[in-house]
Amino acid sequence: MPTVVLTKGGETLRGEVPEKTNLVVKAGIKQFPHPLMRYGCGMGRCAKCACRVVAGGADLPEVNWKENRTLGADRLAEGYRLMCQLWITHDIELVQDVDPIAPAKPPAETNG
Ligand code: FES
Repeated sequence: MPTVVLTKGGETLRGEVPEKTNLVVKAGIKQFPHPLMRYGCGMGRCAKCACRVVAGGADLPEVNWKENRTLGADRLAEGYRLMCQLWITHDIELVQDVDPIAPAKPPAETNG
């Protein structure tokens, strides 16, 4: 089982998760990495789940179009990923900023 380490604001949580775990889904049902992980829409729009990957990033899938749009090139270059867009299959270490980052491009308006 992959080991996930999440640090935010000087607090660190460490836990094991089943393979192919989405950490935002887990936090949403109040399991590790709840309560430390911040998240919002779960759809790649709000950037609230953004974390900097400090170890284990080489094994992650390619950045998808939602991450490209919401994080932008600068944040991607700094190692940020959207946790709602990733299913964890290996050990990974993440840092989440204390303050949420703003989406690079605001989500498009929808008509309902
Ligand atoms: S929870 Fe909104 S972008 Fe991930």
